[in-house]
Amino acid sequence: MLLLTSLKSLAKPATWGVVVRTLKVAVVGAGGGIGQPLSLLLRRCPGIDELALHDLSEMKGIATDLSHISQTGKVIGFTGEKELESAVSGADVVVVAAGMPRLPGMQRDHLMAANGNVAVKVATAISNASPRAHLAFITNPVNMIVPAAAEVLMAHGTFDSRRLFGITTLDVVRSKKFIGDSMNISPDDVNIPVIGGHAGITILPLISQCQPIYRCDLQEIQNLTHRIQEAGTEVVNAKAGKGSATLSMAYAGATFVNSLLRGIAGQDGLIECAFVASKLTDAPFFASPLELGKDGIKRYIPLPQMSDYEKEALEKLLPILRQNADEGINFAKMIL
Ligand code: LMR
Repeated sequence: MLLLTSLKSLAKPATWGVVVRTLKVAVVGAGGGIGQPLSLLLRRCPGIDELALHDLSEMKGIATDLSHISQTGKVIGFTGEKELESAVSGADVVVVAAGMPRLPGMQRDHLMAANGNVAVKVATAISNASPRAHLAFITNPVNMIVPAAAEVLMAHGTFDSRRLFGITTLDVVRSKKFIGDSMNISPDDVNIPVIGGHAGITILPLISQCQPIYRCDLQEIQNLTHRIQEAGTEVVNAKAGKGSATLSMAYAGATFVNSLLRGIAGQDGLIECAFVASKLTDAPFFASPLELGKDGIKRYIPLPQMSDYEKEALEKLLPILRQNADEGINFAKMIL
């Protein structure tokens, strides 16, 4: 009888297939303006058994502080370059917020000289210590950092296009907020794909695809598109020399990582926009809506219908993305 019961339960894929997995997430740059609130928000993500916090400055205090929050899982601090590999070792997801922020008057591209090394060092550490990790960059310039990291991973034979991301969720978050406010509805009820890249005119919100439909004239679409494209600069100017978006970026980063983790854990139907290696256009790296699964990208959602305005904007941004990718790849090649 007992044998019969257990045979019956083996035949039930629903229970049989449930894998209770605990996950390790590493945050690189966890002591910074984005890293701290991001780490705090990640304490609320279900399923994280270990949160590894890495920075060049001492992480013991922040790790101890976060470890007192009444959530399951442990928080461990790692400090200095020599502890980077230990921090990322065995991680399912490594999210990178390390690097310098923009100051007023700077473009994101100007940060490559200061932040390019972050891509190289983290991708090298991942290759050595955690080649199966999903690697997600917040560090700017995302349009160059992701191609640079891809080049390093390729050089180490550890590149998997499904597992490398530039986080562009803040462009979606901003689009939802601005459109929600303008329509007088909750931003949570707004769905809009944002494609392209994460800098200036490479950020292309597809307002024609917004759900619910956003009815307005071309002038309003142009104004709204411009506001979304320049929203990062709006924060940089408002902070007047004290950095760029940290709290909204942490919110966006945590939103993306949460979806990534749910996908890894086997949940279906998770769609997020991100900047990834892509064949959807003739730019080698491109942000678009992606379905996430247990190995990262499960499916590239084909680009939707676009308005004439959006088609024109797409044609203008592709050469910039191609050039950004070349610059990122060349940066990595110089160091490798
Ligand atoms: C943002 O979009 O807020 C970030 O990329 C930071 C920046 O430099 O604008």
